[in-house]
Amino acid sequence: MLRVILIFGALCGCIYALDNGLARTPPMGWMAWERFRCNIDCKNDPKNCISEQLFMDMADRMVEDGYRDAGYEYVNIDDCWSSKQRDAQGRLQADPDRFPNGIKALADYVHKRGLKLGTYGDYGNLTCGGYPGSLGHLEIDAQTFADWGIDMFKMDGCYADPKTMDKGYPQMTKYLNQTGRPILFSCSWPDYQRASGIDVNYKLIAENCNMWRNYDDIQDSWDSVLGIIDYYAKEQDTLAPVQGPGSFNDPDMIIVGDFGLSYEQAKAQIAMWTIFAAPMLMSNDLRTIRPEFRELLLNKEVIAINQDPSGHFGKRVLQVESNIEAYVRNMDTCWVAAFLNRGDHGNAVNITVSFKSLGLPVHGVEGFDVFDLFTGAYSGYLTPDSSYTYSVPPTGVVLVRIGQAE
Ligand SMILES: *[C@@H]1O[C@H](CO)[C@@H](O)[C@H](O)[C@H]1NC(C)=O
Ligand SMILES: *[C@@H]1O[C@H](CO)[C@@H](O)[C@H](O)[C@H]1NC(C)=O
Ligand SMILES: *[C@@H]1O[C@H](CO)[C@@H](O)[C@H](O)[C@H]1NC(C)=O
Repeated sequence: MLRVILIFGALCGCIYALDNGLARTPPMGWMAWERFRCNIDCKNDPKNCISEQLFMDMADRMVEDGYRDAGYEYVNIDDCWSSKQRDAQGRLQADPDRFPNGIKALADYVHKRGLKLGTYGDYGNLTCGGYPGSLGHLEIDAQTFADWGIDMFKMDGCYADPKTMDKGYPQMTKYLNQTGRPILFSCSWPDYQRASGIDVNYKLIAENCNMWRNYDDIQDSWDSVLGIIDYYAKEQDTLAPVQGPGSFNDPDMIIVGDFGLSYEQAKAQIAMWTIFAAPMLMSNDLRTIRPEFRELLLNKEVIAINQDPSGHFGKRVLQVESNIEAYVRNMDTCWVAAFLNRGDHGNAVNITVSFKSLGLPVHGVEGFDVFDLFTGAYSGYLTPDSSYTYSVPPTGVVLVRIGQAE
């Protein structure tokens, strides 16, 4: 029995996870970056600039439009929130014009609504946007965030030497811990090391971070989404073992409801982030999002699978021709599978799957019920010696749950 547990622990990566009680399931929330970038022009663009009003607006929408109740919890500031100068005590301070009440007041506002506040910093001399970085200030910055009531901290890696990150990021982990405030730690560490050709020590990263960015920033396009999926599939044997409760690979923000993805592509992003058990941090404008995208983001069945406590990373198990693929995520008592059509030819493409091609256990099983997760429709009974054909729209998915009927 002991041996079984040890082997399982090593496989699921749980024994590496950062022990701060947070991110037991993939973090969910909203983040400013992909949609609002470093827009600091509040004079000409007051509704879309990085300001306390933007985050208050999004917090209100999250409460009133059902996102909070569906599980979206964090409201995350990204780059360009701070003043270009530290204060007389060497602490970071918010830009006084755009955050006139300061970050602590914003944290209070968000907390009163049952949400949490995240913020952003950088391990190097400067943030990517040119604001003060934390190099040489890690301890005081951790304490400042804790004093303000921050709940999540993303530390970027611009203007830093990636070789020093194996030392620097764990130092920040220690300083955050020493504040006594549980602060979810999101690291850009492996992405910068990958980009500069350094071997990434994922075990160390999982011990020190609740989530980490592996690959390029997401942009508002299907190409960008596909590039991330391809990278994850290519690296799946490295990324799967280090993921589990407390520690998640982060393929970056959900861009559903922005300009770049069609409805089918939006479904595909949500489906694939669910296969990877990835954080669901939306970056969109919740004040103007179209209802069909809001509905996708609030889909209870899909969120429940994304948030399944096992936290396993799903893998690509089948490639048919070049553009049609099957992914399977093991959820201990059942499976979720995504059939992805990467291609953009106008007609839907069929994929035929079986127990064997999906890697499902054949022994002692009569068969499993299959449900389409987006429509809720029953889509058949799959037995060990039958096969089933799914029709998948171009640049789209079919997402199914395979298991005993509930
Ligand atoms: C950070 O700034 C210091 C002082 O200007 C400089 O010596 C150091 O090389 C910089 N570090 C990086 C990684 O750019
Ligand atoms: C700090 O680390 C210890 C030991 O890993 C852990 O038990 C504790 O919950 C952590 N505290 C915070 C605030 O992260
Ligand atoms: C795709 O599968 C459906 C259902 O099995 C079938 O009716 C259709 O003819 C197939 N299309 C192609 C192009 O094979």
